[in-house]
Amino acid sequence: MAAVQDMARLLRLLFEIEREFVCTATTLIYRVGEPEQKYLLCQHVWESAGHARFLRERGRELSGFGTGENVRAELRQLFTEAVMPADGYVALAGFYRVFKPALLAAYRHYLSATHHLADWPSRKLVEEFIADEERHAREMEPWLGAVDATAWLAHLRTALAANGDLLGDHPHSPLPTDFAWESSGRAYAHLATCNRGKYPTCSSVFSLDPAETPIVRPWLVDPKTDARVIRLMVYVWLMMELDAVDYLATIFIDTPDAPFDLHHDLARHLWDESRHSQFGYRQLPKLGVDLMTLEHSLDLYNILVQMPPHERYAMMTMEFEAGSFPTKALVMDRVRELNDFEADTLLAFDRNDEQNHVRYGHHWLPEIMALCGDTRPVEEFVKATQARFAAVAQVHGNRTPHALPPERRLTGNKLLKLAGVA
Ligand SMILES: [Fe+2]
Ligand SMILES: [Fe+2]
Repeated sequence: MAAVQDMARLLRLLFEIEREFVCTATTLIYRVGEPEQKYLLCQHVWESAGHARFLRERGRELSGFGTGENVRAELRQLFTEAVMPADGYVALAGFYRVFKPALLAAYRHYLSATHHLADWPSRKLVEEFIADEERHAREMEPWLGAVDATAWLAHLRTALAANGDLLGDHPHSPLPTDFAWESSGRAYAHLATCNRGKYPTCSSVFSLDPAETPIVRPWLVDPKTDARVIRLMVYVWLMMELDAVDYLATIFIDTPDAPFDLHHDLARHLWDESRHSQFGYRQLPKLGVDLMTLEHSLDLYNILVQMPPHERYAMMTMEFEAGSFPTKALVMDRVRELNDFEADTLLAFDRNDEQNHVRYGHHWLPEIMALCGDTRPVEEFVKATQARFAAVAQVHGNRTPHALPPERRLTGNKLLKLAGVA
């Protein structure tokens, strides 16, 4: 059985690498500014979670894969080091210029080391993952030139070489005496606010005032509001789910000891939110909106990042998502008047995804609470968290002034004009 055990040992390492990538590369998402880049990272993270899941499934068929799913300390140290740069673009370069190529090489090594017929089930998976990794490299390449990361890449390559590469099967070159692990000198901390690059920002896109924000709460549910205005408002709403992308991405590294299935479902949740945001990001320009006039709302990230991860997750699933269905149902009915098949389709999939997210919430909240040492009954905890959110919002909310003056900013009144009703 030595041949089986050798291959199972490699699959195990690949599983740990992919799951640790999911746990740490998620920190890049709120540190890069371009929505397109956030979307791409969410997609890659989801695909990596898929790789890890199938590696575990196949691995468990083989003697020697092991029963637990913990990541060994040497790999965790490498990936924890990779998140450390203060500049998110430097960190991004580390992941995509050092770790992803090393992972691709590891998959290729697996393919050349295993028997094409005896281990066909693994081979099929690994062939697919190689194609994914090659595509990830191509897709991210245009985003990697933003900064000079030379020194950091050399630092990471040194750390990797001391481990004998990701699989540990190359000669281990000892760390130079002046090598210092950034991650043993300080703890990683989330940004106090998320990066939105060149885009204008504000605290919230929701208000009661059509001269202030694009979404006017009472208009959403007012039967007199023109359906074309509702459609524009819901696309703004969907695009601003980018805040969910940014704050959900913070939870992975804050729960390093979570079972893999929890991170798998969070990765799915994250990718769903990035697609919902793309619904708005891609449709709004078609309806005449200049995205440089649409301010990005930062309040939810700014408030939630001040709270511990189980409270962030509770607010997201039990409050924002669970509470959004009645209004979204009304909005869907109104949009249907327009015979806009694409809009109906996007909203229907959004609703279906959101139902899954609330299901995830019921399933995983007790687990995240346990990881954070919270022993209260779930219902009591959620109630207390809602109150805490309100208190934290008093301090950290409403701190982002409108970046644009009212005449340049997308507002409810401007949406009336775009819709041709004013
Ligand atoms: Fe969503
Ligand atoms: Fe959601």
